[in-house]
Amino acid sequence: MSETVLKVEGVHTFIGQHHILQGISFEVGADAVTVLIGRNGAGKSTAIKTVMGLLPPSEGRILFRGKEIQRRKPYEIARMGIGFVPEDMGVFSGLTVEENMRVAMLIEDEATYQRLDRTLEMFADLRKFWKAKAGNLSGGQKQMLAIARAIVNDTSLLLIDEPSKGLAPIIVESLIEVINRIKDHSVVILVEQNFSMASSVGDNFYILDDGIVVHSGIMAELVHDEELKSNYLGISKVGG
Ligand SMILES: Nc1ncnc2c1ncn2[C@@H]1O[C@H](COP(=O)(O)OP(=O)(O)OP(=O)(O)O)[C@@H](O)[C@H]1O
Ligand SMILES: [Mg+2]
Repeated sequence: MSETVLKVEGVHTFIGQHHILQGISFEVGADAVTVLIGRNGAGKSTAIKTVMGLLPPSEGRILFRGKEIQRRKPYEIARMGIGFVPEDMGVFSGLTVEENMRVAMLIEDEATYQRLDRTLEMFADLRKFWKAKAGNLSGGQKQMLAIARAIVNDTSLLLIDEPSKGLAPIIVESLIEVINRIKDHSVVILVEQNFSMASSVGDNFYILDDGIVVHSGIMAELVHDEELKSNYLGISKVGG
């Protein structure tokens, strides 16, 4: 593997009394998109929220470019260059697109404004609806805004939780293009249940089930593994 960007080692996370992550380990290299997949409730969102510092792990280590981050606060982790697009998108409906972008900026410097320009070139609708309330955007546009809010900062690792959820196939196609462009300047970890999206952007995969990693490997192989797909992803075998 190329340079390791993120290393999660034996991580346990509790939510209240519930022991959700039960010793998860995974590793993400600089040159690949890694996809976390698995059924509903498997622990995928918990895993990336743990990386982001939103749910502190009770045990284990998380290394970002060799530095331990498992006891750092979310804002410190964000400032180290990890961006997060949450499952519920985290967009402020009552604010305009512009205000959503401004609130998201960690610092307002020349480089951030350059990234803003680059981001708005990628998402023309956001420029078009710049002064509109985010609550009036379509689902796909809100997802684009959520991603724009993350990449306007200087992120070198981007965690995106189920961006395709609830979106029409044609919008999912444009999301795939977006992620393919983002990966030119950031390492991407994607949680994704939509297998066609997961397989078209992912290079490597980890399958989570009941708070542990049950399988991992390269996406090109998973595509042909009907057994794994049917056992853990609820994708039925042809004819079965
Ligand atoms: N706030 C909470 N309180 C109690 N249990 C929770 C809470 N959040 C999540 N859980 C439980 O933790 C487990 C893992 O949830 P998580 O959201 O990480 O799953 P997921 O793999 O992201 O699922 P989905 O595909 O539905 O988004 C589930 O059993 C869920 O019910
Ligand atoms: Mg989830």
